[in-house]
Amino acid sequence: MKELETLRSELMSAVEKAGSLDDLEKIRVSALGKKGRITELMKGLGGMDPDSRKQAGQSLNALKAEIADAIEAKKRASADSELEARLARESVDVTLPVRPESEGYIHPISQTIDEVVAILGEMGLGVAEGPDIEDDWHNFTALNIPPDHPARQEHDTFYLPGAGDDDRLVLRTHTSPVQIRTMMTAEPPIRIIVPGRTYRCDYDATHSPMFHQVEGLVVDETTHMGHLKGCIIDFCRAFFDVDDLPVRFRPSYFPFTEPSAEVDIGCTREGGEFRIGHGDDWLEILGSGMVNAKVLENCNIDSTKYQGFAFGMGIERLAMLKYGIPDLRTFYESDLRWLRHYGFGALQVPSMVGGL
Ligand code: DAH
Repeated sequence: MKELETLRSELMSAVEKAGSLDDLEKIRVSALGKKGRITELMKGLGGMDPDSRKQAGQSLNALKAEIADAIEAKKRASADSELEARLARESVDVTLPVRPESEGYIHPISQTIDEVVAILGEMGLGVAEGPDIEDDWHNFTALNIPPDHPARQEHDTFYLPGAGDDDRLVLRTHTSPVQIRTMMTAEPPIRIIVPGRTYRCDYDATHSPMFHQVEGLVVDETTHMGHLKGCIIDFCRAFFDVDDLPVRFRPSYFPFTEPSAEVDIGCTREGGEFRIGHGDDWLEILGSGMVNAKVLENCNIDSTKYQGFAFGMGIERLAMLKYGIPDLRTFYESDLRWLRHYGFGALQVPSMVGGL
């Protein structure tokens, strides 16, 4: 009994003095763990006579419970005081500005496509798409570019290996094959724009083997050249945000349109400074024309009943002109510093609103 009393006061004073949760855990193991002092005494109960065992057992159990409770109570108290100490030590300055979240940017190509689609969408044209891998017929022949046509040479085509001459596959050299795909499947009236990737074997500051175009196609019974002009003039003025932007239609040649016109916008290059919308110089920005009757017939559309106009332009070129980006190759370098400079915030309103 005496021995238990000594053990009790020893343990209680150790608990009392314990300065941390770590100390308390050590005391718990030394008293109540597998080889702890109270546990060892419990093991000795087996060798006692029944009366003493009963008495000693009760006292040991009571001691065990008392020590366990004391440790628990002290643990709670020191956890509380550790928390209080931390609260007193640390403080939160609610006036600090929030940490900047890293934010994505919209690539100028996506932005330009969005702007073009918004302007032409407002005029009633809907987006159509086609495959990047095309067959020869859709990319050339149906567009009135037969196999021996000189226009094929201008396209620097990537041919895919394997297929024979007639049905060989190419990476589409322009978005115009989507005109064919649409006219083959839809009844006029047709009003589409086709933004998409295009491919040509060419690489310098203004050419990249992969680039983007937007195609436009309108086919209806009464469609005429005046509609083409109105649509393009309105588009150019809205896109470049210059109300009186001079727009010039210059006679040209494309196999898939007749007549064809290249479109120039007014600009100035005086004093090494390039500006759109002023001065007496011209800059070519797109190709257009009335859909060649042969193309309509290739798509089983009656050319005596329907007429159409079409146009096509390079997205990168539009973006470079509008946003003053000097080198086309930088569009694809994935340089974040470039994107931060030329990119657009996700919540920024597209600048096409000026002309709408
Ligand atoms: N497909 C032509 C090119 O890649 C661009 C073009 C010109 C498209 C006139 C047209 C068009 O639809 O009418 O150079």
